[in-house]
This record gives sequence, structure tokens and C-alpha cells, in this order.
Amino acid sequence: MRAAGTNDSRVLFMHENVTPLLSVEGVTLRYRTKDHLVTATYRVSFDVYRSDRFVIVGPSGCGKSTLLKAVGGYMEAVEGEIRLNGRKIEKPGPDRVMVFQEFDQLLPWKTVKENVVFALTASGRLEKKAAQDKAMHYIDKVNLSDFADSLPHTLSGGMKQRVAIARGMAMEPDVLLMDEPFAALDALTRAKMQEELLQLWEDTRFTVLFVTHSIPEAVRIGSRILLLTPHPGQVRAELNSDGVDDEGSDGKRLSQRIEELLFDEEPLKGRTAHV
Ligand SMILES: Nc1ncnc2c1ncn2[C@@H]1O[C@H](COP(=O)(O)OP(=O)(O)OP(=O)(O)O)[C@@H](O)[C@H]1O
Ligand SMILES: [Mg+2]
Repeated sequence: MRAAGTNDSRVLFMHENVTPLLSVEGVTLRYRTKDHLVTATYRVSFDVYRSDRFVIVGPSGCGKSTLLKAVGGYMEAVEGEIRLNGRKIEKPGPDRVMVFQEFDQLLPWKTVKENVVFALTASGRLEKKAAQDKAMHYIDKVNLSDFADSLPHTLSGGMKQRVAIARGMAMEPDVLLMDEPFAALDALTRAKMQEELLQLWEDTRFTVLFVTHSIPEAVRIGSRILLLTPHPGQVRAELNSDGVDDEGSDGKRLSQRIEELLFDEEPLKGRTAHV
């Protein structure tokens, strides 16, 4: 099962007539260490449209987390540009919220509800009462109403991830950035969380930029999938997966295609596939 995809006309409409919500253009990202420079991504380009479930897939070390950091405004491109709503990203902002892989991203001395409320009031955007209402709305959406007054250490890893997702969504960013948010979960919980995320998307149609190195997860979550080559990450292909049933034959074919593209050893010579 997966969220029903939107129809083809939406894709055509979006991609032909509307400017992207997030545009990454020729972005090279580099770390300077004591002894040398490490190029994490090389001239990566892609566009994310409103309500996309845009997934970046690639092998370990290909620069996925680095790309998210740059979109988050924590790292500057040495080449190229990242724009959100047409404006160049220069620093972090509440229009982009990150959910990480680690379970310990909550304030341990605050309850579930207080964690979400704090994120909403700290930026001064909401008064306490409005923040509490909004927090409970999103805590309910991730099925944790009964645990609103619990402290993080009393929750399972999956529950803590749900709180982090509720907190991120409550901030109602333009784009939710998720860096392998389910990677540390057991297989059953992971499948359940993927299902919940798709359900949340059905409810609110938020835009998400989701990083994973799991091909099945990419096919399940994504409406578009960007494949990166091994280090330094370059775009290998961009695939449309909107409306593909991940468990059906189309989903299996897509997974196979992704696998072939990811393990294709041929060097890139301007042969990026757009499928
Ligand atoms: N703080 C850092 N300083 C120097 N090099 C770094 C730093 N962080 C990452 N790198 C290097 O940049 C490259 C990309 O790293 P990144 O963490 O973005 O990969 P990734 O695709 O997220 O991998 P994974 O799937 O393992 O999380 C790697 O070669 C890594 O060694
Ligand atoms: Mg990473």
C-alpha cells in the first residue's frame, strides 16, 4: 500500500508552468580539512516543486547529508546556487526544518508536548496558547496524543522519531528535510513509519526532501527520485515515481532500474537519464 499518487496532469502542469519551490543549480560542495579539500558533491542540479516527495538516493559518502546541510543553510556552495521561493539560501531559517536519523534530537527535560511547543514559541512566531493547540494537532497526527506529557526517555526510538516529525511539521516549513529518519528503526517499525508519513502527506501535502540509501524506501516514499553517483556525488538520473505502487510490478521494475543505474560503473558523459 502507498499513498495514491497525484495524476499526470499535475506533474506536467508543475514542471512546465510553475517555478520550483526549491532549485538546486550546479551545486558543488566541499569540505576543507586540515590537510586537504574533500569534494562532497559536484555540480548537482535538481528542482523540487510544492508537494513533491523528493527523494535523494545514493551510496554512503556520496554527499546526501551534505546536500541537505546546504539546503538547510548550514553550508555554502563553492559553485552553483540554491534557491527557495526564488531567493538564494544563505543561512538557516524556519522555512526549512530538518529531521535527523538520531533518536536524540528532542530536549530530554521537556515532555513531548513541551518539545513541540518550545519549537513554536522559541522563534517568537506563536503565543503559548496557539502553540499548544498547534502542537496537539500534530502530536495527534502522529498518533501520540496519549504520550503528550511523557518525557523522551520513556519513549521508544520510533515514538521519538514521530515526535521529531510532529515538531518539524508543526513548524509548517516550506520544505521538510529528512535525513534517513527511519534508518535506525527495526524493519517493522520502519515500514509503519513510512506508511504514516505517506498518510500525513495525504492529509497536508507538505513538501519533503528525503534522503535514504534504501532503494525500497525511495520507491515507497518518493514521487520523484534523484540518484547520485558514488563520491563525489553527481546526478546519475532523476526518475518520476509518482503513482507507482511500490509492491506492484511497476514498483519492482522501478527498483530494478534504480539498482542498475546506481551500480552502473560507466563514467558520466552528459548522459544523465531523465525517466
Ligand atoms: N565535516 C566533514 N569534514 C570533512 N569531510 C566530510 C565532513 N562531512 C562529510 N565529509 C565527507 O563528504 C563526503 C560526503 O559525506 P556525506 O555525509 O554527505 O555522505 P552521505 O551520502 O550522507 O553518506 P551516508 O549515506 O553514509 O550518510 C564524504 O566523503 C565524507 O567523508
Ligand atoms: Mg548521510
